[in-house]
Amino acid sequence: MTLPPDSSVREPACAATATPCRWSDWLTTGPRVPAFEEALAASTGARHAVAFSSGTAALHGAMASLGLAPGDEVLTTPLTFAATANAALYVGAEPRFADVDPATLLVDPAAVGAALTARTRAILAVDYAGQPADYEALRAVADGASGGPIPVLADAAHSLGATRGGRAVGTLADLTVLSLHPAKILTTGEGGAVLTDDAGRAAFLRRFRNHGIATELAARRDWTYAMVELGYNYRLTDVMAALGTSQLARLEAFLAARRRLAARYREALAGHWALDLQAVDPAAAPAWHLFVVLLRLDRLRADRAAIYHALRAEGIGVNVHYIPVHLHPYYRDRYPALEGRLPVAEAAYERLLTLPLYAAMTDRDLDDVVAALAKVTTAYRAS
Ligand SMILES: Cc1ncc(COP(=O)(O)O)c(C=O)c1O
Repeated sequence: MTLPPDSSVREPACAATATPCRWSDWLTTGPRVPAFEEALAASTGARHAVAFSSGTAALHGAMASLGLAPGDEVLTTPLTFAATANAALYVGAEPRFADVDPATLLVDPAAVGAALTARTRAILAVDYAGQPADYEALRAVADGASGGPIPVLADAAHSLGATRGGRAVGTLADLTVLSLHPAKILTTGEGGAVLTDDAGRAAFLRRFRNHGIATELAARRDWTYAMVELGYNYRLTDVMAALGTSQLARLEAFLAARRRLAARYREALAGHWALDLQAVDPAAAPAWHLFVVLLRLDRLRADRAAIYHALRAEGIGVNVHYIPVHLHPYYRDRYPALEGRLPVAEAAYERLLTLPLYAAMTDRDLDDVVAALAKVTTAYRAS
């Protein structure tokens, strides 16, 4: 198909947005990025969405927007991908870990409250596996911080489209960070975004992703531009944004498929003698990025590694999310006293297994996973 280079034809995906979005020859950040941002904000209920080149870059931007200084602390969960905690280090702050709830595996607000210090400047929760954290309880903890209320941030890399108490991810925390990596609910190839209701913060984030430059290329009248603060090249490209806009049109279908499959897993595995399931708060409608189970090791004569390898040998693509952040060599060196101090996350890690789950998965695939689990756990049943 030949595309008119400068026609007034609007693409279907752009038709609903106010930003001009025509067939264009833009490759890097052009009109499709703001069109995608508008659509993303509209779908989440946040006032502003600022797209980034990855979820990690978006986390860096979110941390930088808090104006943290060396010595400041950010409280987070150990049961996450390392990028969550790394973001605090990028801006010179220290991540501090609060343990998770043994049933939901989400950061425990009581543990967050107990870990608050005079240096805590933010709480960064993670919507592990796609279930939103308990932001209401975290907000109460944040409001009680000794120096006055501190911001609550959501690492929502897993939870785009989820709700808690009827409120959508993007409206639950002061700042919400998305990952748009291919493994996630919705993808731009690589990508991320920060959602916020604060126009000033959104403007900061737009500069931060573009070298700290105050005017975007499309808005410049001549060669002049002002770099007003230190920033990075964390731009999303138009090519990626176009993919994101087309993916957004399918978000509800992706979520419906994941929810249906998760319900099928939960029905098939409820009460399984060798497994516990992640508890879901009745107020939450998770996005089900991951479906994790916890092995009942007391009933098995094998550890998680043996079960993992046996399932892999059956052709089942199991995985483990996550090695707790503080157990990675870098974090062990940096905080040597932490091992053993986060017992719930550490014990959960020994038992965790992630089962395959993706929007295009068939019932037959899922039933194969359940059958393989039955075969392997039975083979390793403790007598
Ligand atoms: C919880 C969490 N936070 C942050 C990230 C980083 O996102 P990205 O891979 O888009 O940089 C990931 C990605 O796996 C994640 O799972």
